[in-house]
Amino acid sequence: MAICPSLAIVLFSTTAMAQDDASAGEPAAAQASGADAAKGKELFNANCAACHKLYKKAVGPALNGVSEKYDREWLYKWINNSAALIASGDPQAVALYNEWGQQNMNAFPGLSTQDIDNILAYTDTPKPEKAAGAVAGAQQGGAVTGGDNSMTNNIILAALAIVLLLLVVLLVVVNKTLKRFAEANGIQTEIVDEEELDRKPIWKAFVENQFLVLVTSIVLLFASLYFVYGAMMSVGVDQGYAPVQPIHYSHRIHAGTNQIDCKYCHSSARESKHSGIPSLNVCMNCHKSIAEVSEETYQEGMNEYGIDYNKEIQKLYKATGWNPDEMKYAGEGEPVRWVRIHNLPDLAYFNHAQHVTAGKIECQTCHGPVEEMEVMYQYSPLTMGWCINCHRETNVDLKGNGYYEQIHKELSEKRGGRQLTIADLGGLECGKCHY
Ligand code: HEC
Ligand code: HEC
Ligand code: HEC
Ligand code: HEC
Ligand code: HEC
Ligand code: HEC
Repeated sequence: MAICPSLAIVLFSTTAMAQDDASAGEPAAAQASGADAAKGKELFNANCAACHKLYKKAVGPALNGVSEKYDREWLYKWINNSAALIASGDPQAVALYNEWGQQNMNAFPGLSTQDIDNILAYTDTPKPEKAAGAVAGAQQGGAVTGGDNSMTNNIILAALAIVLLLLVVLLVVVNKTLKRFAEANGIQTEIVDEEELDRKPIWKAFVENQFLVLVTSIVLLFASLYFVYGAMMSVGVDQGYAPVQPIHYSHRIHAGTNQIDCKYCHSSARESKHSGIPSLNVCMNCHKSIAEVSEETYQEGMNEYGIDYNKEIQKLYKATGWNPDEMKYAGEGEPVRWVRIHNLPDLAYFNHAQHVTAGKIECQTCHGPVEEMEVMYQYSPLTMGWCINCHRETNVDLKGNGYYEQIHKELSEKRGGRQLTIADLGGLECGKCHY
């Protein structure tokens, strides 16, 4: 009956954790003045985010706490039309303008004072504490708990624990009543002692039964053969290989959430043998202006993957020598050495263009759900059997492949008009894949 107390502990701790999670998070509510920080956030993102960040300078100053720096009336004027305020000779405005290298801020005559109050309520939200409980340096896969997901998990766990507990109680009750019944009917429920003394130990009985010994040996033999064979066949097969990369680069965020086309980065997949890893210039097309991820993305990274995404972007800047404060390339760069994941042995020949362009196969058929991968891994085994199976099973697309059309038609007639597979085209010939 030792299970009962421990179950109770599990039950208690999971519900307690669920409560902890619920009370954490959620930034402070809107300011008292009736201003709406949520509306302000929308306005800020639409109008100001191109030049301002909350906690860090960008094109313009960081705006967190700006409402305390200036008089509110002044802020209305400044935000509605800063150029006019500067032109009017307002000393504060002129000083600010000069301090920021005489850059011009857009005028926003369309924003009402209520709108501006909302924006200021948003810019006044204090910087959230960095992810409580996130273990810095815990690399990928180190599922750090917290956030919505683990909360629902905890609830499910708690529910399961309750069900288990009920089952245990039920069993005990049933057991007791059955015993009582048995006793009432004069049936003995405990094992009688003399019988037990007479009985042979099980292992002795087993050794004396030659048939049983034979069967067991055969089963064991096959089992071990199976494992040895499996181990031997997997030599050189790196399915699932997911090395830690010098920069934590998430396909989930880029190809998934932000829907960047694979070929934007792996552009050579279309016309050459290799697909290639993009150069850092390609990254900087976007990352000159994306120095930090959004607050939600940041929290998700800390809570679910234990990764500080902003630090990872800093690594990109370090590698390219980009200085985000001055917005220009300053330092010396250093190349990023991505760890290669997919790699066929030299004896085999594989061509991306042939499969992607001529064969019209989706990247995901071979590389799996890349747009969901936080960390890239090898999805397919890349064995010869894997190549051959697909060549046997895939029908040649007889339409829309002009170049081959004539050959395909003749071949198809030769085979009595049935669907052609890649194997019929010569996809099983050793020389096609081996040099
Ligand atoms: C095109 C870029 C740009 C946009 C868009 C922009 N600003 Fe600015 N902002 C600046 C610059 C640059 C400065 C520094 C003063 C200067 O050079 O004019 C500044 C300064 C400010 C200041 C003074 C900050 C301080 O700490 O002294 C406030 C407040 C401000 N902006 C609010 C806003 C708000 C609110 C919005 C959106 C409705 C906005 N800005 C949109 C560029 C911009
Ligand atoms: C914004 C640029 C970018 C986009 C878009 C992108 N990738 Fe990548 N990809 C990379 C970088 C950088 C690496 C190397 C780092 C890594 O392995 O995570 C990589 C690695 C890979 C690898 C492993 C290469 C190896 O070492 O064997 C595969 C496979 C891959 N990407 C497939 C895809 C597919 C499929 C898509 C579209 C769904 C895609 N990528 C979209 C940048 C990108
Ligand atoms: C087409 C635009 C674009 C390109 C190209 C691009 N990124 Fe990003 N990157 C983004 C966006 C958008 C985010 C996420 C911003 C957010 O969610 O707040 C991001 C986030 C990141 C992050 C933080 C999240 C993570 O993946 O760990 C890193 C690091 C990063 N990018 C590195 C790279 C590298 C390295 C390359 C080049 C191989 C690259 N990016 C190319 C748009 C781009
Ligand atoms: C028919 C299966 C198949 C398809 C479809 C496919 N790949 Fe590959 N990919 C491979 C194999 C096999 C390798 C290993 C090649 C090697 O080692 O020579 C590989 C390697 C890679 C690499 C590592 C660098 C290189 O070229 O060796 C990247 C990046 C990559 N693929 C991206 C893509 C992208 C992006 C697409 C879609 C446009 C795609 N792949 C479609 C099978 C495929
Ligand atoms: C998902 C299915 C698939 C997989 C996996 C696959 N292939 Fe293919 N392969 C094709 C298709 C479809 C074509 C035909 C393309 C065309 O129309 O030219 C093709 C064509 C080829 C050809 C040209 C054959 C010819 O007669 O012209 C070679 C060589 C080849 N593949 C090598 C490989 C190798 C090596 C691998 C494994 C590393 C592999 N393929 C894995 C589908 C696949
Ligand atoms: C569709 C492409 C394809 C065809 C056709 C093909 N192979 Fe392979 N073969 C491969 C690939 C890819 C590998 C590497 C697999 C690996 O590393 O596990 C390989 C590996 C091998 C190896 C093992 C080498 C080693 O080091 O393990 C031998 C031997 C071999 N092939 C012989 C043949 C012979 C003989 C034929 C013709 C009957 C043939 N192959 C046809 C793709 C092909």
